[in-house]
Amino acid sequence: MRTIDWVDGAIELIDQTLLPHRIEALRVTELPELIDDIQRLAVRGAPALGVAGAMGTALIAASVAEAGGDTELDRDEVRRQAKLLREARPTAVNLSWGVDRALTRLDAGAEAILDEALAIRDEDIAACVSMGLRGADLTRELTGKDRVRVMTICNTGSLATVERGTALGVIQTLLEQGSLEEAFPLETRPLLQGARLTAWELQRMEAPFRLLIDSAGPFLLSRGIADAVFIGADRIAANGDTANKIGSFSLALAAQHAGVPFIVVAPESTVDMSTASGADIEIEDRGAAEVAGFGGTRTAPEGVGAVNPAFDVTPHELITAIVTERRVILPGRGETLAGVPLDDLRA
Ligand code: MRU
Repeated sequence: MRTIDWVDGAIELIDQTLLPHRIEALRVTELPELIDDIQRLAVRGAPALGVAGAMGTALIAASVAEAGGDTELDRDEVRRQAKLLREARPTAVNLSWGVDRALTRLDAGAEAILDEALAIRDEDIAACVSMGLRGADLTRELTGKDRVRVMTICNTGSLATVERGTALGVIQTLLEQGSLEEAFPLETRPLLQGARLTAWELQRMEAPFRLLIDSAGPFLLSRGIADAVFIGADRIAANGDTANKIGSFSLALAAQHAGVPFIVVAPESTVDMSTASGADIEIEDRGAAEVAGFGGTRTAPEGVGAVNPAFDVTPHELITAIVTERRVILPGRGETLAGVPLDDLRA
């Protein structure tokens, strides 16, 4: 099943908090439920959040239309509820992007908003295929190798999108093309998206891989364990600075030290030209409980405080390439997002 989809008038999504032990789908019909699912990471990953934002806006519009009966759709009420949804998590720009894009059809009514949300879903599926192909070609070109070993962090696979994924989608494409020697996912503390979700996805695709603890990543890069590092992105600022899961910045520093390419893979919907640089990106802090314990069990002494940024920002100077569905930008060679035109998709 798709990570997130629209089925019979409701959002259906895989509850990622239960993986890898149980695969269960949630059927979401109410806004408070969707906001809660986003905040507890039942649905997560920037592109999937974009689809959740758009489909959530469709849910809002349908319920406001139903409440209004035969009267005209109360647009202010739709906008008021949509604001709550777009603010459910702050860092991944895709969430507010998905809500805002769906709202562009507000004047055309609830059905039109749903059509827009379904278009976003379909574009996400196509974008992941395209990023995979571009990313795989680029990796062979940058490394000069036909078979590569790659390190990655968090979960950027089908679970973070509708299907296939971004950075993990490139790894899947390399596998399908016979070019993957081995993948090294980091476990990704504190919520273990790497150990729980990426390892589950890699196993299902029968990829060769070994799991690493986060703090082993930089050291093992210095020992030559990988030929490239791939990450996804939650927000790419206009200057190329990239917010992604905490730990990405350390990997970028280590990749530079080791002389291996550091590649960001993300759809154009993650590029936020209205944010000038990484310094302007709001970083979600998820509170002390996630650091001081796991799975309901306290691991630190009672009363211990913690700083828990869910994301960090990798400066563009450390990024070899940004791969989207429509272009490859090489910030490491001075290219900018404003400077590299989008491919003409009609060509
Ligand atoms: O907190 P999460 O699990 O939503 O964080 C997700 C990430 O950091 C991903 O790397 C990012 O959203 C890109 S997903 C293709």
